[in-house]
Amino acid sequence: MRCAFSHHTDYQRQKETHPYVQAVHALTDIVEYRGRNPILYPDFIFIQTKIGKKFFKYCKFVHSVAERVINRRRETLQKECVSSRKFLDLVDILLTAKDENGDGLTPLEIRNEANTFMFEGHDTTSSAISWILYSLAEHMDVQNKVRIEVDSIMEDRQTDDLQWDDLSHLEYLGMVIKEGMRQHCPVPVVARQLTKDFQIDGHVFPSGTSVAVDIYMLHHNEEVWERPMEFIPERFSKENASKIGPFQFIPFSAGPRNCIGQNFAMNEVKVVLAKLVHRYKFELEPNHIPRKRASLVMRAANGILLRVSSR
Ligand code: HEM
Repeated sequence: MRCAFSHHTDYQRQKETHPYVQAVHALTDIVEYRGRNPILYPDFIFIQTKIGKKFFKYCKFVHSVAERVINRRRETLQKECVSSRKFLDLVDILLTAKDENGDGLTPLEIRNEANTFMFEGHDTTSSAISWILYSLAEHMDVQNKVRIEVDSIMEDRQTDDLQWDDLSHLEYLGMVIKEGMRQHCPVPVVARQLTKDFQIDGHVFPSGTSVAVDIYMLHHNEEVWERPMEFIPERFSKENASKIGPFQFIPFSAGPRNCIGQNFAMNEVKVVLAKLVHRYKFELEPNHIPRKRASLVMRAANGILLRVSSR
């Protein structure tokens, strides 16, 4: 929120889950439920149902949160001179952008972009961090190796704040994050609507068809990956990564509409995991195996429970 919207929230320190986060969870669950129930596809039916009414109520709420953040920023911008600012955040860019005819974005377009950033910016990274922590608890040898790497950077420091230059030195952690995203897929599926007829293996998919690309299946396909069910960070070592095809590993999707925040996300996940592993040890909770549930982002139906102890 601070990087994209210059908005200070500290939501993660609040005891209760923030209503915005709760609403996003409910919305993603409803999208998943609707996707599996073709009877709910037509809007005029969906709108009449209890779950449809809940969906629109939550949509209204998340839109109001985005609008509040945008309006606050708009007021600040009116008081400040944009060119005197050291950097522009996302909302500044959206509010001041003009096309070649000098036309800016409409309020709805601005809100749509802000919504994508708010949703994509928190639920995906928290899914990635949670599942990778689970993998680290499952593979103590990997966790210890990450800790040795992080400790070597943190030693002799007064604080455990990482510096920009440190990120490129956390090479093994980078490999672990990639393998975690291969195995757990924070965004398991992406979808497209075909704008022209499209042919695969002799089958023609007509224009207008909705197509889902199952990233989770691709990342676990034996024809694409060796021992796909195993957690092997070395797949992503410098030497091995050069052999990975551009459409083989796509946690951030691929093509012109891939994730705009992927570098930001990789750095964010790196910083959070490095700080956590530096301070704490993560172990599996006996008898608890999280069951994956794809709900736009990859969640655990029964939660991810870990034993955490200070080092
Ligand atoms: C681990 C974290 C993340 C994952 C796995 C992820 C994954 C994805 C994927 C798969 C898409 C493409 C959806 C599609 O092809 O239809 C996407 C789009 C997008 N992501 Fe991310 N994302 C992450 C973090 C972030 C962050 C931190 C931000 C912003 C701060 C962000 C902003 C966006 C935006 C704006 C789009 C839409 C791009 C467009 O439509 O042109 N993402 N993300």
